[in-house]
Amino acid sequence: MPTTAPAERAFLVGGELKYGRPLLSVEDSLNELEQLADTAGLIVVGRTYQRFDNPHPATFIGPGKVDEVKTLAGELDADVILFDDELSPRHQRELEKAFGDKLKVIDRTALILDIFAQHAHTHEGKLQVELAQLEYRIPRLTRMWTHLARQTGKTGGSVGVRGPGETQLELDRRMIGRRISHLKAELDNVRAHRSRHRSQRRQTELQVIAIVGYTNAGKSTLLNTLTGANVLSADMLFATLDPTTRRVEMPGGREVLLTDTVGFIQKLPTNIVAAFRATLEEIIEADILLHVVDATHPNLAAQIESVEDTLAELEVDHLPMVMALNKIDLLPADVNPHDLVTTTKPCTPISAVTGEGREELLHAIEAVTESLMEPAIVLLPYKRGDLVSMFHERGQVEYDEHTADGVKLIGRLPQRLIPYFENYRVIEE
Ligand code: GTP
Repeated sequence: MPTTAPAERAFLVGGELKYGRPLLSVEDSLNELEQLADTAGLIVVGRTYQRFDNPHPATFIGPGKVDEVKTLAGELDADVILFDDELSPRHQRELEKAFGDKLKVIDRTALILDIFAQHAHTHEGKLQVELAQLEYRIPRLTRMWTHLARQTGKTGGSVGVRGPGETQLELDRRMIGRRISHLKAELDNVRAHRSRHRSQRRQTELQVIAIVGYTNAGKSTLLNTLTGANVLSADMLFATLDPTTRRVEMPGGREVLLTDTVGFIQKLPTNIVAAFRATLEEIIEADILLHVVDATHPNLAAQIESVEDTLAELEVDHLPMVMALNKIDLLPADVNPHDLVTTTKPCTPISAVTGEGREELLHAIEAVTESLMEPAIVLLPYKRGDLVSMFHERGQVEYDEHTADGVKLIGRLPQRLIPYFENYRVIEE
């Protein structure tokens, strides 16, 4: 039986540029960091922050603040100093020196990677997290966080699923470099397989709707509510790391595919977004985005902006989008959810828990799927019964006539199906 070490005690440190325009105030960002720390199994014992013109080149916060944090951390019996921003390798080194052996220095990026490591279940998810962790760590190879290794009762050995523990950290850069090459090769294999799988799924030619949103907005719960699927949903950040795809029937009877994706969060470094590109391919290949927002969250606008920034980074901000204003069961009765957001996108209030608004949301999604359809008039020979069925199931038939030459259909088809019908299109005078 592995023995579980007691949870580590973390002291949080934030920094805010005096003249910056951050998405969240430093207090709100620290609240979010506290939730992240909690999700990772740390106990938060205190916090502080500093406003500065620029981060200190050596220690991020100024020397006076470093002393203050060290004293407070000592009084509160902290094990870990958790920074709310990504520290440069130099910051990390200098801070470790300043805080001494008893205090570990962790930044937001390392913490998020740790949570990802805890929540990756598929082979591909695990490979991606390990690769992202090693790439993050290689320039920072000094004394490293062993929180994970201890929590899982692992003391080392090979580079493990949840990231390197203490003994791995003694591996030299070359070994880690070799591991990185191996992981990349392995990921290439997995991705080749995945893309074959996806193209098989593509052959069903159903329109694909990717659910996106800030972490904890309720994406998995909504997928369950819309499809009856049994996807893990939990009140913790980043419960879903691996994508899940399910069919759902629109009110008019057509089916579409809904796919759940990893949650977004502010200050997610671009290289991490890049590391999860494969998982995010589900979004890149989607026809429509369903943006789920937590309408009850005090930082709703900042969360929406953060998701939109990440979508722009992924170059999918041009896709049609429906917004679901979720958790309305928690809103006071006199609040109109529409007043909470300013958006030009179709927007539907919903409770993924009670199911209120489910039908309206499906109608809103259906309307967008229909806007992606084109008018088509075709004459299909009787031997192409497959195309006749495809038109009926995936498109909308307005007129249907059995002629001597075949079945004439007038209606609308999803754009991506048009190529199948190209040879049979009829030009009407
Ligand atoms: P990540 O995996 O972090 O990206 O989260 P997610 O967006 O998939 O959120 P998830 O579905 O796991 O829900 C987060 C928490 O919000 C869970 O505790 C849900 O029960 C809760 N929740 C989701 N939707 C609703 C809702 O409509 N009403 C209420 N009251 N709670 C909700």
